[in-house]
Amino acid sequence: MFSPGAAMLGPFKMAALADLVAAALIERDTSGDVLWTWSYPSVSPQQRDLLTRKSQLAADPANTPSFMYGQWQRQWYYIKSAQVQEGDPLPKVTHFSLVIVSKDFNPEKYETFSRILCKAYSRTGSPAAMLQFYLAVVTRGSCQSEENGTFLVKEFDPRKAYATGSVKDIVNRFGVESILIYTAILLKKKLVIYHPYLDGLLETVRAFPAFVWHRQNWTILYTNVDLVEEELEDLKSSGHYIAGFTDPMVESRTDLYDVFVNLSDGEISVAAHAKESMAMGKIHKDIAMAMVQCAEDDGMENQQVIKEIAKKTKELLNKVKSLATPAEEGGKPLITLDALRERKMAPANENFLFSLAAAEGLAEL
Ligand SMILES: *[C@@H]1O[C@H](CO)[C@@H](O)[C@H](O)[C@H]1NC(C)=O
Ligand SMILES: *[C@@H]1O[C@H](CO)[C@@H](O)[C@H](O)[C@H]1NC(C)=O
Ligand SMILES: *[C@@H]1O[C@H](CO)[C@@H](O)[C@H](O)[C@H]1NC(C)=O
Repeated sequence: MFSPGAAMLGPFKMAALADLVAAALIERDTSGDVLWTWSYPSVSPQQRDLLTRKSQLAADPANTPSFMYGQWQRQWYYIKSAQVQEGDPLPKVTHFSLVIVSKDFNPEKYETFSRILCKAYSRTGSPAAMLQFYLAVVTRGSCQSEENGTFLVKEFDPRKAYATGSVKDIVNRFGVESILIYTAILLKKKLVIYHPYLDGLLETVRAFPAFVWHRQNWTILYTNVDLVEEELEDLKSSGHYIAGFTDPMVESRTDLYDVFVNLSDGEISVAAHAKESMAMGKIHKDIAMAMVQCAEDDGMENQQVIKEIAKKTKELLNKVKSLATPAEEGGKPLITLDALRERKMAPANENFLFSLAAAEGLAEL
């Protein structure tokens, strides 16, 4: 879909290298105690508490997720957990979790990288071996893994990570109701996505921001939130979001969402307070039909479906811009509610176009 040309390698590489923030190690010992044992360069005490809880090492080790990721306080964390094997030089440890903190969203990149660090730790029993790899990646953008060739940061394009989650599957799952998801994200609403299992949640929730591809903004994604204060506070500090939960109690927390998506039964519900702003009109119906048609087309891959939806969005934005009132000298043309009313559209369409203009910073508020 996108591969950096020679001219782009320089700046792209620099940006990629600056993304890593820290690495850390949490261990579970033979008596079941969980300890934070290493970090580089440093991790705050609050971050330690959060990451230790997220690793789930203190719970039944049989259920520890092998890889998970999320966002907290504007940084991404990736946690890879492993069981210590017989013969590893770690006699007092039964399980450990390797944590990477970074500024970018790229699960494939950090899963590969953390696998290399975990292997190095299992083999040597020493964080020094991991630090070597970490520093190589920070300074050179690559490291030589023992069994699997060279790990190259620049092979993990961010746009590829954005297009990895399947919008096509989501549209096929929800059919014409997918328009509720699209509209909610486009209008910068709060979405809560529920799935009973973490792996199912992570696989699906990452695709939602791709419904608004033109924004390329995965900062609104909170993949895996628990109903605890430190996480909810962080979530609420972001005015709008797409937040994944595995705790069914979240459904009763209507203060957290405008739209609730249950991935386990394919139901979408709009909270009472958001019903008016989510009213559907002809514009929605047309987009819904177009989305479903693309997604049902076996010849179309996920990336094409994302592109087709982006095309529809662009048409919509062009329509919105065409309704703008010419600006006075120097200002940019803005859409006013009065100008929209003069067009005598159906209320649902008028309401939607004005909200969209507001979400895109094109409306006079
Ligand atoms: C080596 O790389 C391949 C392809 O990326 C991957 O499927 C495999 O799991 C890797 N093996 C190890 C030991 O990292
Ligand atoms: C992404 O969205 C968030 C939340 O609206 C916003 O604060 C941030 O500026 C956006 N980032 C970019 C790069 O547009
Ligand atoms: C989601 O759907 C499943 C299957 O119908 C249902 O059992 C469950 O209660 C729903 N969960 C939530 C949180 O809505």
